[in-house]
Amino acid sequence: MSNGKGQKTVFTIFGGTGDLTYRKLLPAFYNLFSLFKMPQDFEILVLGRKDYTTESYIKIIEPWLKKFTRTNFRDEVFERMSEHLRYLVVNFTEEDDFSLIKEVYDQWGGVQQRLYYLAVAPQFFAPIARSLKKSGILDDKHSHQVMIEKPFGVDIKSAQILHQQMCEAFDDDSIYRIDHYLGKEMIQNIMSVRFNNTLFEGIWNNHQIDNIQISALETVGVENRGAYYDQTGALKDMVQNHLFQILSIVGMEKPSDSSALAIQREQVKVIDALIPIEHGKLPEHLVLGQYHKTASSDISDKGYLEEENIRVDSSTETFVALKLFVNTPRLKGVPIYIRTGKRCERRSTEVAIQFKADPGVLPNLLIIKIYPDEGIYLRFNAKKPGTTPEVVPVFMDFCQSCVYENRINTPEAYERLIEAAFKKDKALFTSWAQVLSSWKFIDHLIERIEAEKINVYPYPAGHNGPKAADDMLSLEGRHWIDEEHG
Ligand code: BG6
Repeated sequence: MSNGKGQKTVFTIFGGTGDLTYRKLLPAFYNLFSLFKMPQDFEILVLGRKDYTTESYIKIIEPWLKKFTRTNFRDEVFERMSEHLRYLVVNFTEEDDFSLIKEVYDQWGGVQQRLYYLAVAPQFFAPIARSLKKSGILDDKHSHQVMIEKPFGVDIKSAQILHQQMCEAFDDDSIYRIDHYLGKEMIQNIMSVRFNNTLFEGIWNNHQIDNIQISALETVGVENRGAYYDQTGALKDMVQNHLFQILSIVGMEKPSDSSALAIQREQVKVIDALIPIEHGKLPEHLVLGQYHKTASSDISDKGYLEEENIRVDSSTETFVALKLFVNTPRLKGVPIYIRTGKRCERRSTEVAIQFKADPGVLPNLLIIKIYPDEGIYLRFNAKKPGTTPEVVPVFMDFCQSCVYENRINTPEAYERLIEAAFKKDKALFTSWAQVLSSWKFIDHLIERIEAEKINVYPYPAGHNGPKAADDMLSLEGRHWIDEEHG
C-alpha cells in the first residue's frame, strides 16, 4: 500500500500501556506489517505515563504480540516492525507534555498523515483533543485524523457535548468513531450476501419474512470492567452501538454506491425508523436480566453482584431481550428480536431470518453466523429419500471459518479498521448521525424503563437469560433460534 509520494504516516497511540494497545492494536499493526499492508513510510508513536524507554517497551510488548497476533509471529518481522516504533513518556493530562510530542513530529519532518488513536477512557477524549489543538500540533498542513472508541457519550446530551468538544479540534470528517463490530468479516458480508443475490434480496421483505433475530451472547461476565459496566449496562454497552449497527445493515436499502456516505445514510434511515414502544406495552417488548450465582458456584460462576466494583444493590442489566419494529416499507410489521447477555450458556453472535411458512411446514431459516463460527446456514424442505412422499427439513451450511485459507486471510476487526483509517475509508466507522439516532431511541427507552419501573430478572450464570425472555417469544408462538438452528 502506498501513501502518496514522500508522505509519512504517523500513528500515535494515547494509552500505549493499556490492554487495548497490547491485545488488539499492536497485534493488528504486526499483522498488517507482516502482510505488507502498512503504508510504505510509517512510524508508530506510543505514548504512556510509565517510565519505559523504546527498548524496554519493545521487550514488554513482544510476549503480547506472540500471544495475540493472527499471523505467525516471526522474530525478524517483529524486529523490522520495531524499527518503526517509538515510546515516549507523556502524561496526556498535562498540556505542557504535548510539546514533547510535537518535537518528535518535527524531527520526522516532511508531509505527514497523522492518526491519533485515543485508547484511553472517554473522559480524556476532549482534553486530549484540546491539548493537541492548543499545542499547535493540529495547526500545520498535515492530514489529521482522530480515532475514538465507544462509548460516544452516555446519552444523547453527553454525546452532543463530546461531539462539540471534538469538533473544536477536528472537523467531523476527520473523526473516526470505532464500532469494532463493523470490522467483523461477516457483518460486512451481510451487505454482500443481501445485495449480490437475487435469491435473498428478492425475499428480504415483510411479505416473506416472519421475524428477524439478532443475538450476541457471551460466556464471559464483566471481568475487570465492573466500574464501567455498572454505570452502563447491556442496553448502552451492546444494543445502542453494536446491535443497532447489525440491525441497520439487516434492514437497510441498497446504498446508491459503495461510499461511506451512501452506506451510512441508508443505515441511519433504519434506526430513525425504529418505532418507539407504546406507553404501557414495555413488558411485552423488553426483558432485562442480571446473572446471579448458581448453586454449584465456583469462582467463575460468580453472580454479577459478587463481581468487583459493582454496587451491592445494583440493578444494572447484564441481559436484554427486545422486540422492535421498523417503519420502513420493506420491514414494516416484522418483529425484530434482539438479545444480548453476559455469562450466557454459549458464545454466539448471529442473525437469524425466519421466513413465513404454510401451516404444518417448517419455516425456511437463514442464519448469518458472525462469531465464533463465520458462515451462512440455510434450512429448507425436501422429500425424504425413499418411496414415501414425506417432506423433511434439510440444510446447507457454508462454514467460512472452517476453511483454513479463509481463517488465515480474514483480518481481525482492528486490523481492518486501522487499514481503513489509513486509507480514509469511513464506511467502517460510525457516523455522527448514527450516534445521534441510536441515542435518541435508547434514551427514550431508558426513560420509560425508569418511569415504568421495569423488573430486572435474575438468571443463573451459564443460562441464556431469564425465562421471561423465552416467554416473550413463546407467547407469540415463536422461539429463539438456538444453537441447533431449529
Ligand atoms: C464491547 C463491550 O464493546 O464489545 C463488551 O463493551 C463486549 O462488553 C464486547 O464484551 C463484545 O465484543 P466481541 O467482539 O467479543 O463480540
